[in-house]
Amino acid sequence: MRYVYFATFLLTALAVGILGFRGCTSQRPPLEVFPDMDRQPHYLAQGASPFFADGRADRPLPPGVVARGELRANASFYEGKTANGGWVIGMPEGITVDAQFMKRGRDRYQIYCTPCHGALGDGHGITKLYGMGATPTYNDDRLVKMADGELFNTITHGKNTMMSYADKLEPSDRWAVVAYVRALQRAQRGKVEDVPASHRAELGIQ
Ligand code: HEC
Repeated sequence: MRYVYFATFLLTALAVGILGFRGCTSQRPPLEVFPDMDRQPHYLAQGASPFFADGRADRPLPPGVVARGELRANASFYEGKTANGGWVIGMPEGITVDAQFMKRGRDRYQIYCTPCHGALGDGHGITKLYGMGATPTYNDDRLVKMADGELFNTITHGKNTMMSYADKLEPSDRWAVVAYVRALQRAQRGKVEDVPASHRAELGIQ
């Protein structure tokens, strides 16, 4: 009989011990049998450190450091500039302008440029309706004559109120957009002589 009392007491103590304190909070630190490297000395980002001479915990990169695969030595492709610092005219070496490239340019243009410059490049994008009147047309003589490298540079760095698209378009896509902008300019400046004689009748021209 003694064992029955004993077992009942033990079970009660166990049940109260396990279930009875649910939801209670404690100010005392939990028991840590295995700390599992939970606490280690570390620096916070941009924190101070007396260990380094300049007092900063962040270590600046040594000058000239380049991440692997990120060496952008080809200035004509990455900056639109020639070796003597002028703007690249035409496409830089290594780019083939074919139908696929133009399609890519149209695709990127319609995503990123149409809202302001309009599908035709005439500056009548949707933002005009909301008061953004400063968007130029590509059909401007200055922009028609502008070197391709400078157009590339505008996409890369933006210009005045136009922001940079370098984070959205990688260099080859920027060149594809430049090629498409050229196509838009060409389309706006087409002459009757550009249409093959056999198709002129379709335009109502003899
Ligand atoms: C949010 C609106 C907006 C978007 C989107 C935009 N632009 Fe512009 N863009 C402008 C404005 C505004 C200007 C006029 C800037 C100025 O004051 O010279 C401009 C100017 C330009 C110019 C003329 C630069 C010069 O030298 O005068 C080019 C070329 C151009 N944009 C190309 C592009 C291309 C290509 C894209 C897409 C990748 C694009 N823009 C996207 C607003 C935009």
